Parts: sequence; structure tokens; C-alpha cells
Amino acid sequence: MIPAAFDYHRPETLDEALKLLKKHGDEAKVLSGGMSLLPMLKLRLASFAHLVDINRIPGLDYIKEKGGNLCIGAMTRQAALERSDLIRTKYPILADAIPLIADPLVRNRGTIGGNVANGDPGNDQPAIMLALGATFVAQGGKERTIPANQFYKGLYSTALAPNEILTEIRIPAPPPRSGGAYAKLKRKTGDFAVAAAAVAADPRKERRDRARRHRPHECGTDAHRGGRRREISRREDAGRENHRRGRAAGGGEELAERGPPRHGRIQEGNGPRSDDTRAAQGGAARRGELTMAMHKISVTINGAVREAEVESRLLLVHLIREVFRMTGTHVGCDTSHCGACTVHLDGEPVKSCTVLAVQADGAKITTVEGLAQMAASSSVQAGLSPRSTV
Ligand SMILES: Cc1cc2nc3c(=O)[nH]c(=O)nc-3n(C[C@H](O)[C@H](O)[C@H](O)COP(=O)(O)OP(=O)(O)OC[C@H]3O[C@@H](n4cnc5c(N)ncnc54)[C@H](O)[C@@H]3O)c2cc1C
Ligand code: FES
Repeated sequence: MIPAAFDYHRPETLDEALKLLKKHGDEAKVLSGGMSLLPMLKLRLASFAHLVDINRIPGLDYIKEKGGNLCIGAMTRQAALERSDLIRTKYPILADAIPLIADPLVRNRGTIGGNVANGDPGNDQPAIMLALGATFVAQGGKERTIPANQFYKGLYSTALAPNEILTEIRIPAPPPRSGGAYAKLKRKTGDFAVAAAAVAADPRKERRDRARRHRPHECGTDAHRGGRRREISRREDAGRENHRRGRAAGGGEELAERGPPRHGRIQEGNGPRSDDTRAAQGGAARRGELTMAMHKISVTINGAVREAEVESRLLLVHLIREVFRMTGTHVGCDTSHCGACTVHLDGEPVKSCTVLAVQADGAKITTVEGLAQMAASSSVQAGLSPRSTV
């Protein structure tokens, strides 16, 4: 599946990104690692008219200690946290938790800022941030700091305003002889937690402090994963009901009244999609109000420079397969789980179904065809081939 149409913006400074968010209000969404946002857009659970990609803004990617805090730039990838000696030696909860988040390919793209700002109680970082007493720094006109325990408002709802960008996560340095741990129960490797617990212990205090039991899908009165399922199924019911009523009215008034999925919010279930609605409206493309800019991109794929003109929503896997006709990269799922679409992007393995083609502009890509070329010229392959081993 591919996302509904949107316009893609790639600001080069924080100021530029903030101006775009201010201009487009709740029609715009920040895109960082894309590992939560793009699957949602692909499944059409959400739709936004504008994506503001903050991946190329310098200075948002760091891990350092300053003023008694561990300061982590919001664009720091989960893989960088996993490799950090500072985190491994001084922040045991983070060191425990990060390798348990998703799989290495997701961690290569996913950022700490995205995990925190997503507002999904299924994510691992929110409970950890609560246990560690973290504070979040947001920029949006002026800077403000928000304690983690005041940040989460509900399912996919946080204290961040639509025109704000989370820029830094601050975690107080652990006092001497303190410790902590994170444990996660999941159905299989790479999955979201069924239940998880983050504990930060400070022996100077008499009672166990800052311990959080985390039932990841629990949010307000909507309990556990069932809550999310109920929410989705409520939306589906609403969508089906709308669709049924629209049909009963001959595809007329009520359908037109409902209109296509609205940008800037979670959609009202699986009712008619934008394309169906467009057809039902005799081709009056409401989404057509959006100017879908095409982007000229240039990538180096398996050593050869290739250029293409792509729509914002085109996924990298489709660029590789359908535009460049390299069909060794596959699509095996709609949920970014299977890894059949894996390619190397600037040397890091990523899921090409969860990266926009336009994001690869200027990048070096290696597909399985490129790996085959490399293997063919390697001495290992040469040594094995005569014995029919490979
Ligand atoms: C197969 C799979 C398995 C996964 N398993 C787990 C798991 O076990 N545990 C887990 O915790 N996560 C899991 N995830 C989610 C993953 O960790 C995401 O990377 C993370 O939730 C979001 O980070 P991101 O950088 O990719 O954010 P994006 O997807 O780019 O953004 C997520 C949301 O946060 C907002 N946002 C992002 N950055 C900012 C910012 N700086 N300021 C303001 N808003 C921002 C976006 O607008 C969007 O609403 C999984 C994902 C996949 C695809
Ligand atoms: S993870 Fe990309 S197609 Fe399954």
C-alpha cells in the first residue's frame, strides 16, 4: 500500500522547519525516522497534507553529558544510542531497552525523538523517560521544557503543539550507587511489548522511587492492546456505517458531505478512500486542491548514478523495483515487519518500504543485485564456486 498524497518539504534549518509547521498548522506533520509515521500513512490510518522532513537539519543528532544531564538530540537514531559507550556504562535502563526496540533495521532509521513524540503507549521509550525523570525540550517560536510526566495526554496525544518540534531529551545523570533495569515481555523478537517495566532505583532513598510499571497499550481508560483494537474497530464501524449510508443515498449527499479522508487527523476508519470518493464525486478531486510537487532526485544505485522524477509519496522500494526495474528487492508485507525490501542506504541496512524515494536523494543505495556483484568479485566467492558451495 502507498500513502495518500501529500507534499514533502525538506527544510535545511530548524527555523525553516518551524516556519513550515506554522504555515500549515495541523495539516503538517514532522517526519523523522518515519518508522511509525510511514507505516501509519501506508495503512491509511492517518493522512497529512504536508510532511516536514527534519532528517537533514544539522545539530539535532548528539549524545553528551552537560550540566548534570544526559542530553540527547531528538534526531539521534536508536542504533546510535545502542552503540554509545556512555549509555552502555552509565544508563542501564536505556542500555537494556534499546536493543529490544523493534529490529536493527528499524533502529537504523528510528529516532529517540520520534519514539518519544509519537505518543503511542506501545513504544518503549515513554515508560523509560518517566522512570528516568526526563524532560523534553521543544522549539516553536520560543523554547519550552516539558517534564515527561506532563507530556503524555492520551493515545497519540502529547503536550507538543502542532507548530513545535522536539529537539532534545534531557535525562538527569544517575546519582552514585544508583541503578536501573528495563524488562519487556513480547510475543516475538522485534515486536512491540505486551507488558514492560522500567525501574530506576536510588539507594539513598528509603522507598523505591521512580519505578514505572508499563502496560504499553494502556492509555486513559482504553486498556492494553485491546484499547487500540477497539479504537480501530470503532473507526472501522464508523467508516462502514458512513459507506453504507452513502450507498443507501445513492452515493450522493452523505458521502459528499463526509468527503475524502481529512488531512491532519487520524482517519474515520475504512470508509471510502480518497480515490473512491473522488470517483463518487465525478472526478472532483478534493485532494486535487493539494499541489503535488514532483521532485527530481539523483541516487547512486549499485555504483551507477540514476536520476528520476518522483511523487512525494513514492516509496523507495517502488523506485527501485518499478522505476529502476531492479526486482531483487521485494515487498513482503504492508506493516514494515518482514524485511524483504532491505537495501543499504548510505551503508546502513534499511527497509526500503518505509523510506520515501525522495528521502534517498543524493544517497548511495546497494540492492541485492549490487551485493551479488560484490560477492562475484570477492575472493571468498571465488574460492567457494569451484566446489559448488555457493
Ligand atoms: C516493524 C516495527 C516494529 C517496531 N517495534 C517497536 C518496538 O518494539 N518498540 C518501540 O518503541 N517502537 C517500535 N517501533 C516504532 C519505532 O521505534 C519508531 O522508530 C518510533 O516509534 C518513531 O520514531 P521515528 O523517528 O521513526 O518517528 P516518525 O515515524 O518519523 O514519527 C513518529 C511521530 O512522532 C512525530 N515526531 C517525530 N520526530 C519529532 C520531533 N523531533 N518533534 C516533534 N514530533 C516528532 C511525528 O510527527 C510522528 O507523529 C517499531 C516500528 C516498526 C516499523
Ligand atoms: S518490511 Fe518492507 S516489505 Fe516487509
